[in-house]
Amino acid sequence: MTFDDGPGPYTGRLLDILAAGKARATFFVLGSGAARDPATVRRIRQEGHELANHTYTHVPLTSLSTREIQGQLMKTQQAVQAASGVWPRLMRPPYGATDKRVTRVAQRMNLPQILWSIDTMDWRVRKAKSVAARATQGAHSGAIILLHDIHRTSVEAVPPILNQLRRGGFTFVSVSELYANKPLAPGKRYSSGSG
Ligand code: NI
Repeated sequence: MTFDDGPGPYTGRLLDILAAGKARATFFVLGSGAARDPATVRRIRQEGHELANHTYTHVPLTSLSTREIQGQLMKTQQAVQAASGVWPRLMRPPYGATDKRVTRVAQRMNLPQILWSIDTMDWRVRKAKSVAARATQGAHSGAIILLHDIHRTSVEAVPPILNQLRRGGFTFVSVSELYANKPLAPGKRYSSGSG
């Protein structure tokens, strides 16, 4: 499971749920959010989850100059490090919007681009039941599930997702753990652990 756009008002509750369910996740945080709420970012790290870069202000990187792309990513690396001591090893471009220039900057910054294989559409459908159904329906080995911890309904969907997928024999790891046996190449795009 991956959680984008936080930290937000429901991130603390999500961390409680993940701790109770002994599940690890990856948080693609905004640098601006990390600067605003460093305590939550630190807690994400302390509880064994992975912190990753989702830009500073959530702009489509493809609309920016090369220099601005680098600024968005670098400021976020620094904000996450200031909050948690961690220098993120992964990035996810907002809206999945990437191109050759974004790829080149990510490559230079040593950051693979992590997309997803299961889109819960949780930003659009604000019903925990529907979010959980979308997350679990297409579940497959190596799946990267996209969720947003800035929505209450998405956080409410996590207990049923954990229960259902556990029953199906799945485990919940961070993206870096998912790729532990296959080194990630800087700049390269990944959307699931099985491909
Ligand atoms: Ni996002």
